[in-house]
Amino acid sequence: TDFLNIGLKLLKWYDLNARDLPWRKTKNPYHIWVCEIVLQQTRVEQGKNHYLNFVERFPTVESLSSAEIDEVLLYWKGLGYYSRAINLHKAAQQVMEDFGGTFPDSFSEILKLKGVGKYTAAAVSSICFEEKVPAIDGNFYRVLSRVFADDFDVSSPKAYAYFYELALLIMPEENPGNFNQAIMDLGSEICKPKNPQCEICPIQENCLAYETGKVLEFPVKSKK
Ligand code: ADE
Repeated sequence: TDFLNIGLKLLKWYDLNARDLPWRKTKNPYHIWVCEIVLQQTRVEQGKNHYLNFVERFPTVESLSSAEIDEVLLYWKGLGYYSRAINLHKAAQQVMEDFGGTFPDSFSEILKLKGVGKYTAAAVSSICFEEKVPAIDGNFYRVLSRVFADDFDVSSPKAYAYFYELALLIMPEENPGNFNQAIMDLGSEICKPKNPQCEICPIQENCLAYETGKVLEFPVKSKK
């Protein structure tokens, strides 16, 4: 099979079907970072307005860094997991102090920010700086394990490294940010845990789990 063709199909599908979301109108890394932190433990529909209000009140890293934490928390109200907001505020100060006020522009530098893990660093660096890094999360595990009918245990500590390599096989050189967001959209709208919409899936004909009637048997998870 042609692995790369899968990624290219996803890019084409994304061009025509991307969800219309407020943060998709910008490549401002600070705004994308805020969005990714908001969406870490929050659903897209619930996070939209908080994102918009947050970047309206704190439009730059500098404005966030110099704000009072109490006001930052006020803008986080309703989202929960307040450590995310505390880390966001601290990381904004880190950008001012350690990066001269310029948002870091690579995966490895973004990863140094407080509260930023690999998924978030990959999302920001691919969307804003065209860096070819897959943003691997549960959605990505599910899509890949189905496409390849791969029974690698997604609850294993080795899952990240394993699926990272699989992801690189299908990830095109161009538009890594669109590719990552295509997987996010596919995982939330089509390749869902239950009731997957295989009839309208753009990569149905590349999906080994679909071909063998085993879509719901993937991903394999040994422990919860
Ligand atoms: N979930 C996490 N990041 C996202 C993004 N950039 N677009 C849509 N859903 C997301």
